[in-house]
Amino acid sequence: MTTAKSHLDILVVEDNQSFCEILSYGLRAKGHSVTSYPNAKAACDHLGQENIDLIISDIKMPGMNGIEFLHRVRRSRPEIPVILITGFSNIIEIQEAYELGAKGFLSKPFNNEQLHEAIMNSVGADRYQPTQEQAPRKTLKDRTDFFAIPIENFISGKKLLFPIYLALSESKLVKVANRGEDIPTDQIERLGQKGILEFYIENIDVQSYFNANLKITGSLSKTKAICHKRKIKFLNTSIKQIQDFTIRKDLDPDLYSVTQKSLEHALNYLAQTQDGFSMLEDLIKDCESLQSHTLFVSFLSTLIAKQIGWTSPQRLLLVALGGFFHDIGLAEIPEEICKQQDKNLLSLQDYKDYQQHPLLGEKNIQKLNSYPEGLDQIVAHHHERIDGSGFPHGYGRVKIHPVAKIIGLADEFAHILNEKKKAQKSGISKLVIEELQRSPTSFEHEHLDALVHLFDKKRVVLKNVI
Ligand SMILES: [Fe+2]
Ligand SMILES: [Fe+2]
Repeated sequence: MTTAKSHLDILVVEDNQSFCEILSYGLRAKGHSVTSYPNAKAACDHLGQENIDLIISDIKMPGMNGIEFLHRVRRSRPEIPVILITGFSNIIEIQEAYELGAKGFLSKPFNNEQLHEAIMNSVGADRYQPTQEQAPRKTLKDRTDFFAIPIENFISGKKLLFPIYLALSESKLVKVANRGEDIPTDQIERLGQKGILEFYIENIDVQSYFNANLKITGSLSKTKAICHKRKIKFLNTSIKQIQDFTIRKDLDPDLYSVTQKSLEHALNYLAQTQDGFSMLEDLIKDCESLQSHTLFVSFLSTLIAKQIGWTSPQRLLLVALGGFFHDIGLAEIPEEICKQQDKNLLSLQDYKDYQQHPLLGEKNIQKLNSYPEGLDQIVAHHHERIDGSGFPHGYGRVKIHPVAKIIGLADEFAHILNEKKKAQKSGISKLVIEELQRSPTSFEHEHLDALVHLFDKKRVVLKNVI
């Protein structure tokens, strides 16, 4: 009989050096022993010699990729569980890896809790029982002028564009680095070991933080800035509409403020890219209800994403932007088709034309000078359903972009809500959820549960929604 270990010997294969360091210290902070290799070939050379309890490998690597590496592990050390680190672009590979017996998947960026959960699930309780005591979580409460950055998202070796703060207690902040300085990896590692999970930046610096992070992932190049007046007008009306969706006192205040902040950041981000902003302006300028609809889908999608535990600012930004742009393809569909609320009443040809809007939207996004990775797929997939009943492709669970699944649910919610609104004014959210639950195979259970939880006890009162 094997006794469960409290700490594991873990082999990490990751070509991105900064990410590898961050991942390794996160694992070491939990007491694991880590051996890391910058490529799969080097890891293969040591597969026979090492005492290995778990392998964590990136999929996308130069030379031998994570899938080929998984084939090699299956042949020589089939007993070792493997967790693969994926990006949104690896959807096809994920299916292949799953069939090859990969035990877990982690989407970049992930936090320490998600990493720990994946390890627990992959290795199994019979082989791994972590020691119970955990360092206390030190986070800041009730401060709206600062923004939290998960410590594992922080990358050393660059001059800081803004000062960084640390929470010493639930209310006390201290500046630990000035603009132009750097925080070395070993210091971040030590903070992690002390249970400090977040740095803080001032709200005014959040935009620079997003831009810096998006630049690191290579997905943003700024184009000409939007005229200040236009931007302010657009932001103000949009934010006012977002506020109108809910009566704030009825909603969990933390969740509401985080969601609203995410949307405001997304709008700010958008206002810095001339072509994306103009495209959105064009779509909504003649149709106020479409503006309301896109903002509502963005708002509800972000609420669902937060509710299921997504914390990464980059991913929440992608959710919010996905909401804004999901129907951008409707701009090319004849107005009378778009206006028909009940699509069952359309002629067969008109319905076929309507079904093209996700693909038209995808093409529009791809025409932009720059856009966050995956935004085109999210737009293309927002009418796909996990049971294959959606359009335009009839993709199933594995092929649909994870963000598009959430956008699709929020979009469906908005459409049903609009239908019900005509007949009934109160208790509509409950009716909408009941209707959604009648087709439970179309959406992820976890996402439907999040919706139920959000609208439980009538905490959210909806109004003025298309
Ligand atoms: Fe749509
Ligand atoms: Fe929509």
